[in-house]
Amino acid sequence: MPTVTIKDVGTTECAEGDRLVLAIEHAGCDILHRCGGNARCATCKVLILAGDAGPMTDAERERLERIADRPDNLRLSCQVQVRDDLTVDVLGRLKDHPDMGDPGPEPKPWPADHALPPE
Ligand code: FES
Repeated sequence: MPTVTIKDVGTTECAEGDRLVLAIEHAGCDILHRCGGNARCATCKVLILAGDAGPMTDAERERLERIADRPDNLRLSCQVQVRDDLTVDVLGRLKDHPDMGDPGPEPKPWPADHALPPE
């Protein structure tokens, strides 16, 4: 099982192919996911500090291209399938945006066959 280490939060394990945003949330981190995991809001942004976060979905690439001066290790955690041990820094947390009230709609788990979800 891959291990996900979240800076300033802790470490968790998840099933291979799980969505990174859900692994982070299940570790007890109040990561934002305001669009429900659909690559629209970018509130689930993370910096990949170590490990291979795998290929980008087209939706992730298109959304990230709209962010000026983005670092190369910036990813949308709702679009990342965990297949390697990862260390991440979560950039959007509810504790830093209490006005939002909640993290957002719960992203759906990946399909059991780990196919990328439809838009
Ligand atoms: S882009 Fe909205 S939850 Fe990931």
